Amino acid sequence: MPTIGPFRYLEAAASSRPRGTLVLLHAFPLSKRMWESQLSLAAHGWRVLAPDLRGFDGPADEPPAASMDDYAGDVIDFMDALHVRDAVLAGLSMGGYVAFAVLRHAASRVVGLVLADTRPDADTAEGVAGRRRMLTLLDDKGARGVADDMLPKLLGATTRELRPAVGDRVRELILANPPGAIRGAIHAMMSRPDSTPDLAGIRCPTLILVGSEDAVTPPVVSEHMQRGIAGAELAVVPGSGHLSNLERPEVFNAAVAAFLTNRV
Ligand code: MLT
Repeated sequence: MPTIGPFRYLEAAASSRPRGTLVLLHAFPLSKRMWESQLSLAAHGWRVLAPDLRGFDGPADEPPAASMDDYAGDVIDFMDALHVRDAVLAGLSMGGYVAFAVLRHAASRVVGLVLADTRPDADTAEGVAGRRRMLTLLDDKGARGVADDMLPKLLGATTRELRPAVGDRVRELILANPPGAIRGAIHAMMSRPDSTPDLAGIRCPTLILVGSEDAVTPPVVSEHMQRGIAGAELAVVPGSGHLSNLERPEVFNAAVAAFLTNRV
């Protein structure tokens, strides 16, 4: 596994001079390894990078992030460390929240955007109360408690019925994360600002993807987001819940490859 400075990441290189760089930002509470099936996008002529957000899939003593801005700063530092001037950012769920934060800080570094199973708005009061319950669950039962609570919500009914191995893999990825990283991400998510007012200012080509059975960020949220971003495309991933890249990687990859080839 490559590292540079404090950053752990996965990388796949294009066979010839790349057309550009695709940076994949993972969901909560997973890690860079959720993107293993997307590394094959390099075959379409892209350098593909998937960093861990701070603390994920790492040692227990790594200081956690406290805000989306912390994660955004890390993504920009990571790109700097690898001499990546600009990139297409693809964020799934929490990764999308991080992408919005990167856009606020360094829009000129983002030449394309894939927003998968995510939402622009901040947590509601009810959402914040749910985050507080999750912090208690984490203190009481660790990453295992969080995995037990989240897994049924993350995966669609079709995946739970037909593709049980996906659930096993997601559990394994969650359990590999130190509690501190999970705690930091919960704090970052519950304090994130509303990005809805920023949508109209997004100028780069944008693809929105959502699982047809996504119960966490349902398709209607993506439809609203599409209306807010000029020229954004929307693709629904059939038979998938919230983790569309893991549940239907072939459909997800085909949509992203077509976007990279035709729009960026
Ligand atoms: C995620 O998949 O990253 C989380 O479900 C996002 C959230 O809890 O808001």
